[in-house]
Amino acid sequence: MDINAGNTLIEKTVNSNETVNCIFTTDKNKAQMKNRLISITALVLVMAGMASCGNNKNTKKYNDMVTTESFGSFEGKDVFLYTLRNKGGDVIKLTNYGAAIVEIDVPDRDGNRDNVTLGYDSLSGYLNGDPYFGKVVGQYANRIAKGKFTLDGTEYTLAINNAPNALHGGPTGWHSRVWEAEVLEGTDYPAVRFTYHKPDMEEGYPGNVMAEVVYTWTDADEIIIDYKVTTDRMTIVNITNHAYFNLHGAGNGDILDHELTIAASAFTPVDPTLIPTGEIRAVEGTPFDFLTAHTMGERINDDYEQLKLGNGYDHNFVIDNPGDVVAEAYDPSSGRVLHVTTDQPGIQLYSGNFLDGTQTGHGGKVYNFRTGFCFETQHFPDSPNHPEFPSVVITPDEPLLTSTIYAFSVR
Ligand code: BGC
Repeated sequence: MDINAGNTLIEKTVNSNETVNCIFTTDKNKAQMKNRLISITALVLVMAGMASCGNNKNTKKYNDMVTTESFGSFEGKDVFLYTLRNKGGDVIKLTNYGAAIVEIDVPDRDGNRDNVTLGYDSLSGYLNGDPYFGKVVGQYANRIAKGKFTLDGTEYTLAINNAPNALHGGPTGWHSRVWEAEVLEGTDYPAVRFTYHKPDMEEGYPGNVMAEVVYTWTDADEIIIDYKVTTDRMTIVNITNHAYFNLHGAGNGDILDHELTIAASAFTPVDPTLIPTGEIRAVEGTPFDFLTAHTMGERINDDYEQLKLGNGYDHNFVIDNPGDVVAEAYDPSSGRVLHVTTDQPGIQLYSGNFLDGTQTGHGGKVYNFRTGFCFETQHFPDSPNHPEFPSVVITPDEPLLTSTIYAFSVR
């Protein structure tokens, strides 16, 4: 498979000599923490191996474990809902509208399944101005200041859809497109590939760009997302998935009691329009220090300028060790845990500050203020205007390959 960064992450973990243990610790010592950061993937593969050894009756092929049904149509194109079921019977649902994650049904510590991501039961919800629930965002995720950037001596102008800035690839960005879809054959786990061909200068971005996103749903409840973005001329790209999580179950209260750990010693403060100032600020001594676990709500209302500007958390964290498990969320009441592994340099913690009860999602549940949060793995916002940030430039010779794993478990 071309898009193999996720496999690389898995191989890296499996080949390591480290003990399979709790994959995220609250140790203050970063070096020690890194040694103990073991991807859940290793555990998953061991468990999958054990399960398949002891269960010869279960010979169902993985590609039989994806069902496809109609989800409507948009602009004359068919939209589908894909249901991916793993060996444990846990399910994710995807759609090719916005290459989105629609549903994630995983058990709590008593084995009761619930959907832990915000979304809708029908396509109309996604078409009627949803806040990017579960969608793939591109060509440039998050903001570009005043919708302007210069590349190779040429200035480009983007639509201003979040005044005074450009946000999430513009009003008709990749989140709002019907992607080509293919259920993959012969893979180890159920998997679907989505592809979008972005014509030159659509939404103001140069390049005929091909975006490919492969979702794989493993037997240990991991969503592996492999992204590949190629272009026929120099351009910029920042791609992410914008899933909102609520480990109580979507629509079951707010997320302020979720305990978060983020392996980031610094974050990028923003101006009043949520554009990074360029400063890389140490989290130490601030409400942004999640090197040890803190609940989302513990400090969210502190009198700290950055929290006021974001109306809560809406900030990019500078990941200490891309390639490792970089973040954890734990809901003490259900026991559900989410681990995020990524090779991207940043992660946006967004505490659902713009959710306001105007969205009615799965099962008629209303999504109120801070009833979902995002861990958007990404390059830093407004990087094209910050040469000091990691580069977001891709060329025909240097495409973007990146992977993120969202792994669900209980404790
Ligand atoms: C941004 C928020 C924005 C949200 C929904 C997040 O990625 O950081 O500022 O409100 O997406 O658009």
